[in-house]
Amino acid sequence: MKYRKLGDSGLRVSEIALGSWLTYGTATERDTAIACIDRAYELGINFFDTANAYNQGAAETVVGEALRKYPRSSYVLATKVYFPMGDGPNDRGLSRKHIVEQCEASLRRLGVEYIDLYQCHRFDDTVPLEETLRALDDLVAQGKILYAGVSEWSAAQIARAKGIEEKRNLHPIISNQPIYNMLVRYIEKDVIPTCEQFGVGQVVFSPLAQGILTGKYKPGASIPQDSRAANDQTNYWIRSYLRDDVLTCVQKLEGIAKELGFTLSQLAIAWVLRQPNVSSAIIGASRVQQVEENVKALDVVLTDEVLERVEAVLKEIDGFVPIW
Ligand SMILES: NC(=O)c1ccc[n+]([C@@H]2O[C@H](COP(=O)([O-])OP(=O)(O)OC[C@H]3O[C@@H](n4cnc5c(N)ncnc54)[C@H](OP(=O)(O)O)[C@@H]3O)[C@@H](O)[C@H]2O)c1
Repeated sequence: MKYRKLGDSGLRVSEIALGSWLTYGTATERDTAIACIDRAYELGINFFDTANAYNQGAAETVVGEALRKYPRSSYVLATKVYFPMGDGPNDRGLSRKHIVEQCEASLRRLGVEYIDLYQCHRFDDTVPLEETLRALDDLVAQGKILYAGVSEWSAAQIARAKGIEEKRNLHPIISNQPIYNMLVRYIEKDVIPTCEQFGVGQVVFSPLAQGILTGKYKPGASIPQDSRAANDQTNYWIRSYLRDDVLTCVQKLEGIAKELGFTLSQLAIAWVLRQPNVSSAIIGASRVQQVEENVKALDVVLTDEVLERVEAVLKEIDGFVPIW
């Protein structure tokens, strides 16, 4: 495994992280979830991502259970707050009340004394940004979280937060967690340049476009059983990728990967990690073999020639925007 610093902070995270959205606590049964987390840990993954909202706390419960047997200092545990956790008016968002209450609830479900990285799952424009940032700063001061991050914030939102932090001398936001893969690249334009300026690292999600960039979905073919797209509980977001033009392009990418002696999932993960501002790529895995295959992405060497060939293929579906 290789490790990178998370933005300008002193925290070192594995280049590949393991997430739990739609898998652990949802579609993947408990024993398999724990086996995936154990294998990831054995392979040197030290960075595990979850969220309070992933199946209303069920993902945090399984992730916490799996990691409990390891020394607390040996892994970096990330979770999030923002999406609704109840029907009440204060059961969502980034108010001080909801952040503090959900931090306590996440600590209980995870069974830990502190969260390494506590992330604002989205931006909340109904709450003063200073209220949110001060709540996070207080949690750091109390030792309940060690670092704060955000997820899917725009460049302008991150820049505003940085302005307030500096003025009020608050603990900094060290990371942003956006979608980033060969098919969704909006962060390249503004988010990455702004984050480079402010020392914020990207922890990118869905590097395999939820499994599309493994090549298992073929144009004109039926959806493989036991896949995310085949399960009505988990296929809402992946469906927008299932277009013949996109899948034809994916097959060409798979051809490039095979010529290099790798699988497409390995090429796709290496491709997001080519960006120095990306600290880690968060994969999902519904089977132990997927963890094993995906970790080998770190052996891929991307030459300029390979990158140009990938660009040429991606140009064919320029303008494609899936739901996420
Ligand atoms: N911040 C946010 O808003 C946000 C949003 C989404 C995700 N996330 C985070 O990012 C993590 C990863 O997201 P993701 O699950 O979409 O990532 P992904 O790595 O793009 O997709 C993971 C899925 O692809 C399939 N897969 C993975 N490796 C494979 C392989 N080698 N061969 C065949 N199939 C393979 C598996 O699904 P099947 O086997 O079921 O087909 C797996 O669950 C989440 O768990 C979560 O922690 C964050």
